[in-house]
This record gives sequence, C-alpha cells and structure tokens, in this order.
Amino acid sequence: MTTDDTILRVEGLAKSFGTTEVLKEISFTVRKGETKAFIGPSGTGKSTLLRCINQLIVPDRGRVYLHGEEVTHAGAKINQYRAKIGMVFQNFNLFDHLTALRNVEIALLKVKGMKEGEAREKALFELRRVGLEDRADHYPAQLSGGQAQRVSIARALAMDPDVMLFDEPTSALDPELTGEVLEVIRELAQNGMTMLIVTHEMRFALSIADEICFMEHGTILERGPPADLRDSPAFERTRQFAGRFAEL
Ligand SMILES: Nc1ncnc2c1ncn2[C@@H]1O[C@H](COP(=O)(O)OP(=O)(O)O)[C@@H](O)[C@H]1O
Ligand SMILES: [Mg+2]
Repeated sequence: MTTDDTILRVEGLAKSFGTTEVLKEISFTVRKGETKAFIGPSGTGKSTLLRCINQLIVPDRGRVYLHGEEVTHAGAKINQYRAKIGMVFQNFNLFDHLTALRNVEIALLKVKGMKEGEAREKALFELRRVGLEDRADHYPAQLSGGQAQRVSIARALAMDPDVMLFDEPTSALDPELTGEVLEVIRELAQNGMTMLIVTHEMRFALSIADEICFMEHGTILERGPPADLRDSPAFERTRQFAGRFAEL
C-alpha cells in the first residue's frame, strides 16, 4: 500500500467510559476510494470508533489525521473538519419539523454559507442521486424508513465530504427496506467514495468492502480482504461471527 493516497489515518485510538476500556489502541489507514467495513458483536466499540473519528467523542489517547493533518482536538477548526466527514446514523437523525429538501439544505446554508438558490439546487441534486427528488416536500414522518435514511445520506453527501461514515445504516429498517439503502451505498462505493461502514449485513460487507475489520472487545481482532475473512479466518471467533450473519 502506498501512503500518498491515504486520506484518513487513525493511530492508537483509546477510549474508556468509567472503568470500561471501550477502544484499545485502534490503528488503521484508509486510502482514497477505499471501503472499509467493521463487523463484530454489539458493545465492542464500533460506534465509539466512528464517533471518535469525527470527534463527536474525544478519545482519551491516539490521533486522527485527515490528509496528513492531525484533527484530534482540532479546537476551533472542529466544524471545518466535521464538514469533511459525512456521518450516517442508524436512526437517521433528521429534523422532524423540516421537509426532506430542508433537511438537506440546512447545513449548506448554515455551515457552507450558500445562498438559498444555490443550496436548493445542490440539495435537489443530492436527493435525485438517492432517487428521492419527488419526495423533496415530504416531512420525515411521511417517508418510509428507507426513504428517510436515503435523505440522511443525501444530507451527508451535500457537504461534499472526503470520507463517509455509516453506523449500521440499515439496522433500524424493516428487512424489505434495507435493499434500497444498500443500493445507494453500493453506488457510492462504485463511484469512488471513501467509506467506513459498520454493518451486520455480512453479505453486503463481503461484496462491497476492500477490507473487513472484525472488532471484539475494543480491538480489531482480525482484518483482511473479504474473501480471506470468509474463507480462512485466523480466529475461530471471526468464523463464528461471520458464519452466523452470512446466513441472514
Ligand atoms: N456515552 C457512553 N457512556 C458510557 N458508556 C458508553 C457510552 N457509549 C458507549 N458506551 C459503552 O461502550 C461500549 C461500546 O459501545 P459502542 O461503541 O456503542 O459499541 P458497538 O457500536 O460496537 O455496539 C458498550 O459497552 C457501551 O455500553
Ligand atoms: Mg453501534
């Protein structure tokens, strides 16, 4: 792996809540256009890891670099940094009192300082990208879970992020609605977006990821190309976990 196309570098991230060590010295790099999937039992620190990367949580130790520049404890520049990291949560986190269009527009107006017309055009473009231009005037309560999640993906994309973080983007959805969301994510991967995805959708992770990291007890127990983790995992724990979810 060359280092020049590294976008994101995570070095020795550690975080405890009380006496519980939730992340133990996590390190990895992400290349431009790479999709890295994180799998593993719940409670192993996957969400905490993503939150430390975009500084929603301040890690106890360790560093995060974007384009070689350290962003941990970014201080006054934190909002500038966050604007470059798109985050998609399990529960969408849309504003209920705003339409789909407004949900996508709002950060363009407030954070990017775009003019109304320009913001609207960009928001409509992003809604079109996730197949929801015709739902622009709907409120979140009038959307299906799959549509709401696609709006939140459009909202993240509208900021033109360098990296997208997905935290179990389909686990709050009814099974028949996961496909439309996974399709949007797959298309992003194919178009060269750099992404970290926490997911229990094993088959999806196997088909989309360049590398899969199996997390357990706050560490990356094992990592490698999807086929290696599927066919010849080094650890029995990885085999058990991957096997269980592959059947879903
Ligand atoms: N804000 C918090 N305060 C205290 N404990 C937390 C907090 N966030 C997460 N935890 C704990 O840290 C552990 C890892 O959580 P999390 O990162 O959400 O795991 P995962 O996403 O892999 O399910 C869990 O035991 C969880 O209860
Ligand atoms: Mg989680």
